[in-house]
Amino acid sequence: MKNLGILLSGRGSNFEAIAKNVAAGKIPEARIAVVISNEPDAGGMAIAQRMGLEALLIPSKGKQRQEHDGEVVAALHQRNVDLVCLAGYMRLLSPWFVQQFPRRILNIHPSLLPAFPGLEAQEQAFAYGVKIAGCTVHFVDEELDHGPIVVQKAVPVLETDTEGSLAARILEQEHIAYAEAINLVLTESFDIAGRRLVRR
Ligand code: GAR
Repeated sequence: MKNLGILLSGRGSNFEAIAKNVAAGKIPEARIAVVISNEPDAGGMAIAQRMGLEALLIPSKGKQRQEHDGEVVAALHQRNVDLVCLAGYMRLLSPWFVQQFPRRILNIHPSLLPAFPGLEAQEQAFAYGVKIAGCTVHFVDEELDHGPIVVQKAVPVLETDTEGSLAARILEQEHIAYAEAINLVLTESFDIAGRRLVRR
């Protein structure tokens, strides 16, 4: 059994989807050891408490990145976390943080990377006029929205879409993609060849 550490900053729907999948036995190798937020008002914290999971607030406001990352990494190590899942965690991790969990940090991003990294990716894709949008779960490296890709899901953009309707359909796929990615990383043997995840 592997320990997941979830980091979030907001609503927490990706975390909730992971937690429900774990509870339903659909991520059989994992348990959620801790949910950490840097934002006091993150909706994800209330969800964690409701689900009986440890919800740990480690505020980032007014702290240097190094100091805050040090506190988060210590909390993850204390709970023997094997895999860190960023779920709407709106902070860049320092290179030092990334090195503490080599190939053991996943992030979800609401675009088909490398298109539209950064904030409001769904809005960027909609405004650009793409016909296929989607989401990506990837390993975290030192660059923003950048490491090797684990799972991607495509979402067609409909003539009738608005930014909001497109973002909602992407979010549905995010919730499916994250569980798939966690299962793959925890249960399959693979190599990373360059940027490519190749199953053995
Ligand atoms: C999700 O759409 C996630 O892909 C995005 O933030 C949202 C969090 O929603 N993450 C990024 O943009 C990371 N660059 P949630 O709190 O409901 O999971």
